[in-house]
This record gives sequence, structure tokens and C-alpha cells, in this order.
Amino acid sequence: MKKYSVIGNPLDHSLSPKIHNYWFRENKINAIYNKETLLDKDLENFIKKIKDKKIHGANVTVPFKEKIIKFIDILSKEAKDANSVNTIYMSNNNIIGHNTDIAGFYLSLKSENINLKDQNILILGAGGVTPSIILGLRMMRVKKIIVTNRTKEKALKLKERFSYIDVSEWGEVVKANSIINTTSVGLKNTDKIQLDESLFKSDTFFYDVIYNPRETNFIKKARNKGCVVQNGLMMFINQAAEAFKAWHNVMPNIDRKLIEFLQND
Ligand code: ATR
Repeated sequence: MKKYSVIGNPLDHSLSPKIHNYWFRENKINAIYNKETLLDKDLENFIKKIKDKKIHGANVTVPFKEKIIKFIDILSKEAKDANSVNTIYMSNNNIIGHNTDIAGFYLSLKSENINLKDQNILILGAGGVTPSIILGLRMMRVKKIIVTNRTKEKALKLKERFSYIDVSEWGEVVKANSIINTTSVGLKNTDKIQLDESLFKSDTFFYDVIYNPRETNFIKKARNKGCVVQNGLMMFINQAAEAFKAWHNVMPNIDRKLIEFLQND
């Protein structure tokens, strides 16, 4: 039986085992998917287990998506561009590091028929997932990407890599057709992101990469103003599907039944 894992810390809320084990059953693949809560010092040994074929593939989540890179033999173009690895496997005795978050984000909007082409986009946050969102937005040919972060230096660091982005002050009101939350604010039900009221216009699209809780205060407020909103569940599902395809060469099904199964926790 083949073994797969998600590594991260903390992992309590990860839905990766649930979705991959579901697709194993559906596609009659004899494999099991577990979660492993690791520390930085465990990463090298974990990669060794993949080299020794004790583990056949892994997903990587917070806080290891960048830290794992030094143990990878070959990075895919997406992983290199985002400087972030969320999917690992072996190919020709090399450890391959891939990024499916970019495609996951891009496909999550396509699946909901949201088209951001030629739009001005405001991104909140400059953390680990933000480069993948920036690259996904570029694929969508948006007009302008403005990044704002509580710690401005981190947004400016992103600008060094993605010269085409603009950086605005945290709390500054900018003109945006869509606002995307990539911060971790909202993971706790009591979390509230401080945003100027004037940003909540009914024709603005709001997206939160967080999917658990299903509705952050950010999304709730936008929905109450009549805005179109989306949480991170379809991004999660699509990044998982792309990882599944990379490992098993099979594109798994994404349908209502799967979404309901994931939401039933
Ligand atoms: P990392 O910063 O280590 O990459 P992350 O979880 O990927 O961690 O990113 C957390 C993001 O949420 C960052 O943009 C962070 O802002 P800072 O860079 O200023 O820390 C943002 N964040 C976390 N708590 C926040 C808060 N209370 N208010 C505003 N932004 C917050």
C-alpha cells in the first residue's frame, strides 16, 4: 500500500487526509494518506523517508512551504516562481517540489465563473500564500495588483520579486474591484480584520483564502453588504486535485457530493 502525508504544524484543521482518502476510495487506489505534525528539525528526515520510498508523496503546509525547499532536488517552475512548495514526489530518484496553490487559486475562480481580467485587485497580507495568489492573478490578466500588509517591509520584499505589484499602506483606502484576504486573520471566529468601511461596496468581490471557519467575519460583512463572496474551499479542493494528478496521473472528480462530504465535519 502506498503512503502519502501532509506535513505542517499545526495540522488539526487540515482536510487533506479526508479529501485524498476519499479520492483513493473513489478511484480504487490502494493507498493511505495521513498527517504528520513536524518540527523544523524533522524536515530532512521526512524527505529521506520519501527517498527511501517509505512515503510516496506529500503535501506541505504552514509553516514549511518555504523551509522545505533546501531539501528538494528539482523545483517545478511554479514552485520556483512562488518560492513555495506544497506538493512533493519522487521522479527518477529526484525529489520534486511542486506548487499547486497557484493553479488551485486560479481554478477556484474559474469554477465559480469569476473573471478578474482587467480588474484592480487589493491583496491583504504578505505571508506564505501571497506569492501564489499574485501569480494566479497574473495568469488571469488582472490590471493592477496592490498588496498591503500590517508589516509593510514584507510587502516591499514581495515587490522586489514581483516588480509589477503596487504596495499600499495598511489601512489605506485604495480603489479596488476585488479584495482578497491572504492573512491568517479570521482563522479564529473572534478575529476581525480592520478595514475601512468605504471598501465594502456592493459591487466589490471579496475572496478569503481561509475555508475553516467557512465564513470569516471579513466574508460575513461583505455578504451582508450584498457583495459577491468566496471562501478558500474551492482553492483547497483544486490544489488537492492538482497534487492528486501529479501523484497518480488521474484527475479526480470535483462535485457537489465531495463538497458536502468536506463540509460535513
Ligand atoms: P508568515 O508571515 O510566517 O508567512 P503566514 O501565516 O503565511 O505567516 O502569514 C500571516 C499573514 O497574516 C501576514 O501577512 C501577517 O501580517 P504580518 O506580516 O504583519 O505579520 C498577517 N497577519 C497575522 N495576524 C494579523 C493581524 N492581527 N492583523 C493584520 N495582519 C495579520
